[in-house]
Amino acid sequence: MQRRPAASRERFRTALEKLSADRRSKGVAGKPEENGKPRRQRSTWRLLRGFFELVGGQRPAILFALATATFSTLLGLIPPATTKIIVDHVVGSEPWPASWPFADRGGLSRHDLLLVLIVATLVISIVKSTIHLWGRWAATRATKRVQLTVRRRAFDHAVRLPLHRVHELKSGGVASLLREDAGTVGELIFGLLYNPWRAIVQLLGSLAVLAWVDWQLLLGGLALLPVVYFTHRTWISQIRPQYRAVRNTRQDLDAQTTETFGGMRVVRAFGRQKSEAARFVRSNDLLTRQELRVWWAARMIEVLWSLLIPLGTAALLWYGGNQVMSGRLSLGDLMMFLVYLLMLLEPLATLAESAAALQNNLAALDRVFDLLGEPREFASTAGGMLVRRDAVRGDIVLEDLAFAYPGNPRHVIEQVSLVVPAGQTVALVGPSGAGKTTLCNLVARFYDPLAGRVLLDGVDIRSYDVESYRRLLGIVEQDVFLFDGTVAENIAFGRPSASDAELIAAAEVANADEFIRQLPNGYDTVIGERGVKLSGGQRQRLAIARAVLADPKILILDEATSNLDSESEQLIQQGLSRLMAGRTCFVIAHRLSTIRHADQIVVLQDGRVWETGTHDELMAHGGRYRWMVELQTGGPVVGT
Ligand SMILES: Nc1ncnc2c1ncn2[C@@H]1O[C@H](COP(=O)(O)OP(=O)(O)OP(=O)(O)O)[C@@H](O)[C@H]1O
Ligand SMILES: [Mg+2]
Repeated sequence: MQRRPAASRERFRTALEKLSADRRSKGVAGKPEENGKPRRQRSTWRLLRGFFELVGGQRPAILFALATATFSTLLGLIPPATTKIIVDHVVGSEPWPASWPFADRGGLSRHDLLLVLIVATLVISIVKSTIHLWGRWAATRATKRVQLTVRRRAFDHAVRLPLHRVHELKSGGVASLLREDAGTVGELIFGLLYNPWRAIVQLLGSLAVLAWVDWQLLLGGLALLPVVYFTHRTWISQIRPQYRAVRNTRQDLDAQTTETFGGMRVVRAFGRQKSEAARFVRSNDLLTRQELRVWWAARMIEVLWSLLIPLGTAALLWYGGNQVMSGRLSLGDLMMFLVYLLMLLEPLATLAESAAALQNNLAALDRVFDLLGEPREFASTAGGMLVRRDAVRGDIVLEDLAFAYPGNPRHVIEQVSLVVPAGQTVALVGPSGAGKTTLCNLVARFYDPLAGRVLLDGVDIRSYDVESYRRLLGIVEQDVFLFDGTVAENIAFGRPSASDAELIAAAEVANADEFIRQLPNGYDTVIGERGVKLSGGQRQRLAIARAVLADPKILILDEATSNLDSESEQLIQQGLSRLMAGRTCFVIAHRLSTIRHADQIVVLQDGRVWETGTHDELMAHGGRYRWMVELQTGGPVVGT
């Protein structure tokens, strides 16, 4: 009976322990975690391959950006060389080397040559910047498009996850994943490709220039590479899991906040604003602690690298200064070296700085792959036959069904068999928790049974493509769900192509037309999230109209009229009987008077069929049904 969440320090400690436990079991892909989710630690290499596959259509744009980056970076290598020429051979007294073109300074005076070289450098810089900007634009556009694609793929996948997984993720959690994580993946184009590529080109370019002038310098530069490699490798294994943990916490926080605002009426009714705020603060506190911890890990690498530049410069000044003094290098050479050394170290420092951001983005990619890697609902029976609606009769047979909800071994349906010929109505009655809604969930194939089969026209529904099968259904659920939008949009949800006349006709069947016309904007009235601006009965009538318009072959009405007064119920009942004619119907009702004309009444108790028959048969039988009817009518009842 734990009713209070742990203190945030406690939770932070648990999170740290989990982190180090994860690190110890690193690389055990698919090893189940406590809550049944597979634990994954993808290598950078696997993430990279996955990312290339994800960027798909943006590859040409990315290649173009990389090409411009190469070109502009190489152009950027020219100005320091010009500086050397100016210092040594124009301003200084060194002779113009005989091996160079334009013998004897091309016949120009030193002043003119100075001007020419400066203008040339300026032009090169401008061209370089323009090309650079163009490439960045291409990369930015690709980033946004990849963001869009990844978000769409993640969304497409998330809406097809098994229902219990969707419930586990919670609506706010999915929103967080789609917005934060899937959105961040696009930024990898810069973090993973564009910036590193530019750094590599600049690194190799300046190394080549250095080697050309003095090969010993090249060796010094190369000695840096193993240092880069090893510091990064150990560091990455530390930091990415931390970023993952931060993102997981943020997802939970978003889920929790969404829920609080979704249940605002309950929060207020029970005066829980303060404690909900405290809960929010506690979760935020955990997030903050995790973020601050990862801040330190992120800065370590930066500090290390920020030391490298002064150290490298000092080493070069020592080596180069001695070379100049002993006459083996000119002053222009030394100046040029210093600039190239900066060019060599600068991209490394930039990379180090952005390395933390890159790991954060890779953690996001990792989480997106986790999502995309989860099996879709009924993945094992995917690729079934498409249901041809006009060829469907609508016989439903339940054969010895057994079912338990995922994560709970208790069977809530056990040995249920039922034959419902096409066009007939079967009523499910029984106490709360008996399994009526669950049985309908199996008919709608929201879940697959553990044992037994559901047959449509003699064929197991698992051999049909699930989405095409569900198009046969019309469902009015016990908890009506409406979307924020207009009345018309909500009614047309199942068949957006319906004409206005059809829409109004459906509303009339549901006895909703009259109240809709009294709304401020009639059918164009916006009804708020989950239809908050309507009464419970009005919501139910919209849900019925929505099912009517879908023109289903199989109709499931789960307490469809429970929120209506007797008069409205009677009005709807007439419409419903018209609707139910010719369709196979499953009707659940607590108010037994509404189902007495059903072709078959099934009494469920603890997930099992207790008794079946028509109203008259069951009344004559004198069992549980009769007892329930008498309880509701307040005394013995005589037939119809
Ligand atoms: N999503 C779920 N996950 C786990 N268990 C569930 C889930 N939905 C229902 N159950 C359990 O399954 C059992 C049957 O629930 P079901 O909703 O089918 O009852 P019902 O007959 O429709 O009751 P009511 O008349 O109150 O609507 C209940 O014991 C309930 O706790
Ligand atoms: Mg129910």
